[in-house]
Amino acid sequence: MKTKIAARMENLLPSGIRKVNEKALAMERAGKHVLHFEIGRPDFDTPEYIKKACRESLAKGEVFYTSNYGDMELREAIAEKLAKRNHIPYEASEILVTVGLSEAIFDLLCTILDEGDEILVPDPVWMNYVNVPRLLGAVPASYMLKEERDYEMDLDEIREKVTEKTKAIVLVTPNNPTGGVLKRQILEEISKIAIQHDLLVIADEVYERLVYDGAEHVSIASLTGMKERTFTLNGMSKAYSMTGWRLEYVAAPEEYILAMNKIHQHNVTCAPSFVQKASIAALQGETDEVETMVSEYQRRRNYAVKAINEIPGLSCRCPKGAFYIFINGKELGLSSAELAERLLEEEGIALVPGSVFGASGEGYLRMSYASSYENIVEGVKRLGEAVGRMQK
Ligand SMILES: Cc1ncc(COP(=O)(O)O)c(C=O)c1O
Repeated sequence: MKTKIAARMENLLPSGIRKVNEKALAMERAGKHVLHFEIGRPDFDTPEYIKKACRESLAKGEVFYTSNYGDMELREAIAEKLAKRNHIPYEASEILVTVGLSEAIFDLLCTILDEGDEILVPDPVWMNYVNVPRLLGAVPASYMLKEERDYEMDLDEIREKVTEKTKAIVLVTPNNPTGGVLKRQILEEISKIAIQHDLLVIADEVYERLVYDGAEHVSIASLTGMKERTFTLNGMSKAYSMTGWRLEYVAAPEEYILAMNKIHQHNVTCAPSFVQKASIAALQGETDEVETMVSEYQRRRNYAVKAINEIPGLSCRCPKGAFYIFINGKELGLSSAELAERLLEEEGIALVPGSVFGASGEGYLRMSYASSYENIVEGVKRLGEAVGRMQK
């Protein structure tokens, strides 16, 4: 029978990160030792107090559907967290609990983008922000995050790229893949642009807790006049080492939450009941678990950044957030796809080609340091040796 895949699927590119991961796993199955730096997944176990809350919830038989919007107690806990930590006065009715942030991004973009609408998206970026608009027949217009500017956006470029069709701008802070953190002053300027052109703002803050060297995470929705036009995206996965639990959320004015819930309920119904209960515990019972993880990430980052910059042919900035290093390998004269492929096949080092995150990522490799310190020491050593051999 002829395959009957819808034409729109042509607009959707498969995940470049997962492609590297699948290949690395296949190599491992064939007996090769691989050092994994490709996936943005914390290597710490989920803190015990969160697992305990999940076990207790299951023991109580909390195994049924919840409200599609999310358990009210969880929505209240999220609203309280956003008020205290992010200084945004959301009500529980302004929160939608989703199955991962990928689901939140999909629901939200389906809700706001009509065919032909434009959305300003950073380049490089987490590719859902490019793929989902394309799937919807909308146009992702890139603004560049350049190494020379320490991956900070150029406000003039943003002003130039706003057109009559621009509906929204995406901000990812701290950023995947660059590790950049947007400063308050930049966010204030973006707010002025958003208000002047009546734009919606999508603030992906999922790496919020992972900031280093005293960098401040600022939520744009906390700035004057911004809450009414901002979608604040955040969740459990990166802060509490819970990527497999699939529990994130979006906070926005209630009319958008009501609309987004229509996609959400026809798609996933609700997030798992006992994971929601565990997430209430995560938010309310935290002591020093997150800080402990963050200081270990910082130790790894400090080592890796110094060691990478000592390798002739490679260089990198010192990222202030998330757990990624964006390595510049342009001097080696290979495309980032070729470079990543050789490093994986010949040396067993799994890194993601920067080009996977957009055109301006060409020549770069993304390294996740959410891997053990020992792996990082070994990986950077192997990287140095491999690059040395390539230059002979
Ligand atoms: C910036 C950013 N947004 C969204 C996501 C998707 O998150 P989730 O795993 O909760 O779907 C990721 C995942 O790494 C990410 O890096």
